[in-house]
Amino acid sequence: MKSFNMGLNKSVLLLFTLLFSVSFISAQKTYTSFKLGDIWEDTEGVHINAHGGGMTIVGDTYYWFGEHKVAGGHGNQAWVGVGVYSSKDLYNWKNEGVALAVKKDPASLLIAGSVIERPKVIYNKKTNKYVMWFHHELKGQGYDAALTGVAVSNHVTGPYEYLNSFRIHANVWPQNFTESQKEHARKMSKEKLKWGEGSGHGVYFLRDFEVGQMSRDMTLFKDDDNTAYHITASEENGTLIISKLADDYLSLSNEYIRVFPGGNNEAPAIFKQKGKYYMITSGLTGWDPNPARSAVANEMLGTWESLGNPVRGTEAEKKTTFRSQSTYVFPVIGKKNAFVFMADRWNPSNAIDGRYLWLPIEFENNKPIIKWFPEWDLNFFKLKTKN
Ligand code: GAL
Repeated sequence: MKSFNMGLNKSVLLLFTLLFSVSFISAQKTYTSFKLGDIWEDTEGVHINAHGGGMTIVGDTYYWFGEHKVAGGHGNQAWVGVGVYSSKDLYNWKNEGVALAVKKDPASLLIAGSVIERPKVIYNKKTNKYVMWFHHELKGQGYDAALTGVAVSNHVTGPYEYLNSFRIHANVWPQNFTESQKEHARKMSKEKLKWGEGSGHGVYFLRDFEVGQMSRDMTLFKDDDNTAYHITASEENGTLIISKLADDYLSLSNEYIRVFPGGNNEAPAIFKQKGKYYMITSGLTGWDPNPARSAVANEMLGTWESLGNPVRGTEAEKKTTFRSQSTYVFPVIGKKNAFVFMADRWNPSNAIDGRYLWLPIEFENNKPIIKWFPEWDLNFFKLKTKN
């Protein structure tokens, strides 16, 4: 009788284990499209945690890097680091773990509780290394430090070795700041300007000349000839700075320009189509959405021309960029002129619950435009080339 009972107990246990695993497996979704605004689960059924993301393509695989957020209001600080996911189809993402981990050592600038935002990774052909740059704010200092940080790895998924965080271009003049503009900036720095006006006049630029320029929302762009650029919101977020990276991508070269002085752009995302460089940015309203902007240039360090709001849709959609903010634009492997706009729908009071909005980029009168599709898939691009 006793052995019969034990046998029965074992079979019940087995049955439960079986049922549990079956229900667990069936809970995992296989996606065949992008569904916007929904929870987007990874291959283990967990909401993807890669905010302010960027995309790195290696062979036939996409690697999505992003801010690992935690639940609650302090979730916008970095308690884990930068996460990375991989996918071959762009719909289904495998969690590859923590690419860059925060430090326990209080002597490290990368200590847990600092702010790590908008990580981007590019591959350096010469050194055979992956280089990550990110917006870095120091623990307990809000957004005052305004640094850019660098880390490096031999493997795309990491672990990345943290190198340093710093202000940019201390004591170096940009290529496009003329003597008369400098003179004007010097004059204006003595005037009583309203908050925010200083950037357009170059007053914050002069203020920070010796300590280095501020660097907040940033991105990287790697050109076809392997020249790479760091694009960042500087001068109290009033002016963008585009800098050519050094050959090993581990530091900035001295070649750089100020773009749209006083234009108040952030969240920059760059892509290149048919020889032209396009940039999508947002305005400055913190976590709250605002109208996106777009611009074009013939050279990264050339003259940028504003193209206006790329969003096509209702007034509300245009005003809020579908309630989201840009983070990156990436090309689709194997398709011609196919680019995906990546954006975040932030949730600052529970950062981990932020959502991802990915939309195809279309062109209208030679301008990049973005329309809303609640659900779409990559066949979108095939149809486009047929037209
Ligand atoms: C946004 C920015 C985010 C984050 C946030 C903090 O404007 O794009 O990356 O820095 O401000 O308020």
